Parts: sequence; structure tokens; C-alpha cells
Amino acid sequence: MNVAQISRHVHYIGVNDRTLHRFESLWPLPLGVSYNSYLVTGGDKIAVIDGVEAGHALKQIEHINRLTDGRAPDYLVINHMEPDHSGAISLLLNAYPDMVIVGNTQTVNMVAGYYGIEAPTMTVKDGDTLPLGGDVALSFHFTPMVHWPETMMTFLACDGVLFSGDGFGCFGALNGAVVDTDMDATRYFPEMIRYYSAIVGKYGRFVQRALTKLKSLEISTLASTHGPVWRERMREVGAYYDRMSRYEPFDNGVTIVYGSMYGNTELMVEEAAATLAARGVKDIAVHNAAISDLSYILADIFTHKGLIIASPTYSETLFPPIKSVVDALVTRGMKDRVTGLIGGHTWAPQAVKVMDALLQDTGMEIVSGSVSFKQAPSQDALAAVRELASAIADRL
Ligand SMILES: Cc1cc2nc3c(=O)[nH]c(=O)nc-3n(C[C@H](O)[C@H](O)[C@H](O)COP(=O)(O)O)c2cc1C
Ligand SMILES: [Fe+2]
Ligand SMILES: [Fe+2]
Repeated sequence: MNVAQISRHVHYIGVNDRTLHRFESLWPLPLGVSYNSYLVTGGDKIAVIDGVEAGHALKQIEHINRLTDGRAPDYLVINHMEPDHSGAISLLLNAYPDMVIVGNTQTVNMVAGYYGIEAPTMTVKDGDTLPLGGDVALSFHFTPMVHWPETMMTFLACDGVLFSGDGFGCFGALNGAVVDTDMDATRYFPEMIRYYSAIVGKYGRFVQRALTKLKSLEISTLASTHGPVWRERMREVGAYYDRMSRYEPFDNGVTIVYGSMYGNTELMVEEAAATLAARGVKDIAVHNAAISDLSYILADIFTHKGLIIASPTYSETLFPPIKSVVDALVTRGMKDRVTGLIGGHTWAPQAVKVMDALLQDTGMEIVSGSVSFKQAPSQDALAAVRELASAIADRL
């Protein structure tokens, strides 16, 4: 059990989930996930920050009771209404009927809409403060679209702890320790990129806005709703989120994503990968889009500056798994990737045309020399793909 004191007035009361196969029914969780929640104890009042997923509510209540000797918390602050955090609300209110829900107007509406709960609630405005007694007070900072419109962050100035909701979160259950200073947190960083690119990736400009807004706070601990509490590596985590939300790649590697039913498109992709390697590109990730999970493909695309997408023409459009990848890039407003396109067909070429059209309004740089080839790759087609890969290597 991870109940632990993380600062003078704050205890961790969250839970691990190592059973769920897919977060949001979509994203695989090989390392599990944590739903983080915190108990803030002031001179007079006790506040719980965020709930957990519904199936874990009893564990959270047990954690609270253990720390408060049965005294009911006075407040439940809801930073984010997505049910992975709000699912426990009804059970928490059953356990503590007088506990006041604290949120903004949108939160309070969502609490009513999701759970039919009207009262008791306290509606806060951006910048409001809630005193808990002594020098302990919470202040509320609205950070819309990180990751829903009602999202806010809560700051405990006396301990320098920012309860940041999904912001600065990552996949991965907590394996004993809670704070990064007490663990080797290396394993969480790839899961941070995968979490961000899958969950928050569409909202880069809102993350940027939040990062600017948070500069005025003296933060020494980042306590998000998923993954470790960040203290020692807090600046590194902030830099990761800054970089990802600016769509800036981490390195000059290349992601190659392809679909291939009978191996012809794959031959083109092998040629491209070998050319890139011969040109000195060391970090090349090749994904068969029908096999690799989308979250790993997106994480690699967020990581690498180069990208090649290759698809057969399929029913006059893209091969379905490639269509999903391209749609995901458009949805996320992906930009600044040096991108090459390859498309195969048997009687009517469509793949390159469709990818070109879909990606036109993103800020991705489509390298000229897209390769469209017919049936099995000819020597000319292989030469064209070598030229395309070489042009990408030039731009890295
Ligand atoms: C279900 C299906 C639909 C296809 N639709 C088209 C099409 O609309 N136009 C076309 O030129 N080729 C079409 N093809 C042919 C494929 O484009 C061709 O098999 C593919 O490019 C070969 O590449 P691969 O070996 O990498 O799968 C279709 C193939 C299949 C199996
Ligand atoms: Fe969320
Ligand atoms: Fe979440």
C-alpha cells in the first residue's frame, strides 16, 4: 500500500491498477497505471485532492480513514472530472456525506451530469484560495484543456506542492515508492511520452498556456494524477512537457510506419530503412501499423524528427491501420516532422494522394519526391525510395 507522507501537510492516498488492459479502452498498460490522490491536512480542515477510478474507491476510503482516524474530510477538490478520477465521488460521498465538493462552475455541472450530485458544493474562481487553518491554504489555477475544459490545478503554497491533475502525468503503476527521490524513475519517462502523445497530445497550446501561467508559483513538488510525484526530476519533467507540447522532437531519429498485406510495401520500407541507416541515422523505429499499438507509434513520432508513412491503396483509400495513424496525427495537430510518403497500388494509385490531402493542413513538412509505385517495387521504384530516404536524412 502506497499511503505515504510526501510533504509536511500532504499524504499520498492514491491507488495502483495493474489489471486494466487498456486505459480509456484504447491504450495498453504494460506497466499498469496509478490514480493519484492526496490528503492535505490543515490546522482545522482536511481536504482530499481528486478521487480515483470507481472500482478503486474503497481502497481510497481505507487510505483516508487510516490517516484521519475516522474523521471525515471537509473538502473534496476536483481538479479534473474524467471518470478515472471522479468515478469514486459517489462512494466518497456515501462514506463522508458532509464533505463539500470543491470545483469550478464547469466541474459542478459535470458532477451533476455524471453522478446526479447537486450539493453540497463550493464553486471557486480562477485564483481563489481556500484556507484549511494555520498557514495551510489551497489556491486554484484554471488550466482548461489539460485535459478537459474544467481542468484546474491546485497549489499548496506552504509546502510548494502543485496538484496538477493529468498535467505532468504518465502511465506506470507506483512500485513501492511514491516520490521520485525514493526510486529510479527512468522507466516512467518513455511512458510519459506515450501517455502525453495518446491522451493530452491534441492540446499542446493549452499545455503551453498552463506552463506560462504556472511560472508565477514557487513549486518544489509536482503531484499529478498519474505516475510518480516529481521532486528531484521536476525540472526534467517540466522540460518534457514543454518540449512535447511544442511538438519539438527529442532526437534526429526516424519513425517508419507502414501497412502491407502481401509484402510489397514492406520491401519499399526495408529499402528506406537501409538507406537511412547507411546515411548514419542511428535511431530508426519501424512499425507495422497493423501490429504495433497506435500509442507506441505516436510516442515514436513525438520522439523523432523524421517520419515515413507507407501504405497500400485499399478500397480507393488508405490501408485502414495507416488511416488511423494519419487521422491521429491530424487530430493532434502534429507538426515539424520531416515526412516522406510512400504508396502502393495495383490499378489506381490513391495512397499518396490521400495522405497528402489529409496532412496538408498540419504543420508537417512533406518532403518532395513522394513515391507512388505499382504492384511489386520495380528497380525505378526502389531507386525513388532511396532518393526519398536520402532527402529525409539530409534534413535531419
Ligand atoms: C481489399 C483490397 C482492396 C484493394 N483496393 C485497391 C484499390 O482500390 N486500388 C488499387 O489500385 N489497388 C487496390 N488493392 C491492391 C493493393 O493496393 C495491393 O495489393 C497492394 O498495393 C500491394 O501491396 P502490399 O503487398 O504491401 O500489400 C486492394 C487490395 C486489397 C486486398
Ligand atoms: Fe484526463
Ligand atoms: Fe487521468
